[in-house]
Amino acid sequence: MPGIESEPLKFAYWVPNVSGGLVTSDIEQRTDWGYEYNRDLAVLAENSGFEYALSQVRYTASYGAAYQHESTGFSLALLLATQRLKVIAAIHPGLWHPGVLAKFIASADVISGGRAAVNVVSGWFKDEFTNLGEPWLEHDERYRRSEEFIRVLKELWTNDHAEFAGDFYRIHDFDIKPKPVGRPHPEIFQGGNSTAARKLAGRVSDWYFSNGKDFDGFSEQVEEVRGYAAENDHAVRFGLNGFVIARETESEAKAVLREIVEKANTDAVEGFRNAVKQAGGSTSDRKGMWADSEFKDLVQYNDGFRTGLIGTPEQIADRAIEYKKRGANLLLLGFLHYLEDVEYFGKHVLPVIRAKEADLERGAATPEPLVTSTP
Ligand SMILES: Cc1cc2nc3c(=O)[nH]c(=O)nc-3n(C[C@H](O)[C@H](O)[C@H](O)COP(=O)(O)O)c2cc1C
Repeated sequence: MPGIESEPLKFAYWVPNVSGGLVTSDIEQRTDWGYEYNRDLAVLAENSGFEYALSQVRYTASYGAAYQHESTGFSLALLLATQRLKVIAAIHPGLWHPGVLAKFIASADVISGGRAAVNVVSGWFKDEFTNLGEPWLEHDERYRRSEEFIRVLKELWTNDHAEFAGDFYRIHDFDIKPKPVGRPHPEIFQGGNSTAARKLAGRVSDWYFSNGKDFDGFSEQVEEVRGYAAENDHAVRFGLNGFVIARETESEAKAVLREIVEKANTDAVEGFRNAVKQAGGSTSDRKGMWADSEFKDLVQYNDGFRTGLIGTPEQIADRAIEYKKRGANLLLLGFLHYLEDVEYFGKHVLPVIRAKEADLERGAATPEPLVTSTP
C-alpha cells in the first residue's frame, strides 16, 4: 500500500456504551454510558479531530459493565447524530449470521453516506455464548469462523448473486440490495492479537487493532502481520489502543493514573483476568491479548496504560509520533471523563501531534546533507 505511512495519523475513540467507563475502578468517572451523553460526545469528537468511533459489544453484565447498549443499533444512532464521524460496530461471528449483518451494515452505510464500519471480534467471554445456548468454539476455530464471516461480508457487499461454500457458512445466489456505498466496501477492523488473529489480518482484514502495547510490543506485531500480509499480497493498516491522561504537568497525569489503579475494583479485575484466559493465552504459543498482562494493565481492560499516552500534551505527542514511525495508522483512545478529556485532547494534544507530523514530513522531504570527507 504505497504511501500509507505518510498519511496523517487517524484518531478513534472507544464509545462508552457500557456502564462503568473504560477503567474498572471506583475513581470518580463523569463518563455516562447513556445515549444523550454519547450523542453529545460523538458530535464533540468529530469536531475535535476524531475520524472514527468504536462501539463495544457486550450482551450481558460482567466484571463491572453492569449495563450495556447493543453495538450495531447504538452505532447507527451515533451515525444519525453526526455528519462526518465513521462509526465502527463491534460484532461477534457466532452470534450473528453474516448475511443478516451484511444487510444491516449495508443499510446503515447507505443511510449515513458511507460511514459504517465493523470490528470483527472473535470473543473471549465464554459465558456470553454458552448462557445464550450457543456453542463456544476452541480458540483457533473461532478465528477460522471469523475468516469465513469476513469473506462472506465482502462477497455479499460487492457481488450480485453471491456464492460462498465454507465449513461454517453456505451462501447461494444471494443479492443484497442496496449495496453499501463505501468503496470497495465498509471497512473491516479486527480485534484480537493471537497468532491466529495475526494471520487472519494478513489475509482478509482492512485493519488490525492492537491492544495497548509499549513500542517494542507494537513493532513486533506490525512486523509479523506485515509478513503474513505480504505472503498473501494483502494490504492491512494498524490501529493501536491507548488510554489517554493528558494534563498540564506530568505529575498531575501520573497522579490520576495512580488513583485509578489504587481504586481498582479488585474483584472485577480478577474476574476479568480469569475470563480472558480464553483468549490468546489458551493457545499453544500463548501469544495474544492479555497473555502477559499484569493486574495494573487490566484495570484498563484493553491494556491501554501500556501505550503510555499519559503526561503533558508534548509528551503524548512525542509517543504518538514514535508509534506512527513504527507503523501505526490510527490511535484508538479511551478517556476517564470523556466529554472533558476529548475536548482537551482536541484543543491541546492534537495540534501538537499535527505540528510534529508536519516536521516529520518536512524532514522526510529534505535530503540529508552530503557529508564530504576532508583529507
Ligand atoms: C480494539 C479491540 C476491540 C475489541 N472489542 C471487543 C468487544 O467490544 N467485545 C468483545 O467481546 N471483545 C472485544 N475484543 C476482543 C476480541 O474478542 C478478541 O478476539 C479476543 O480477545 C481474542 O483475542 P486473541 O486473538 O488475542 O486471543 C476487542 C479487541 C480489540 C483489540
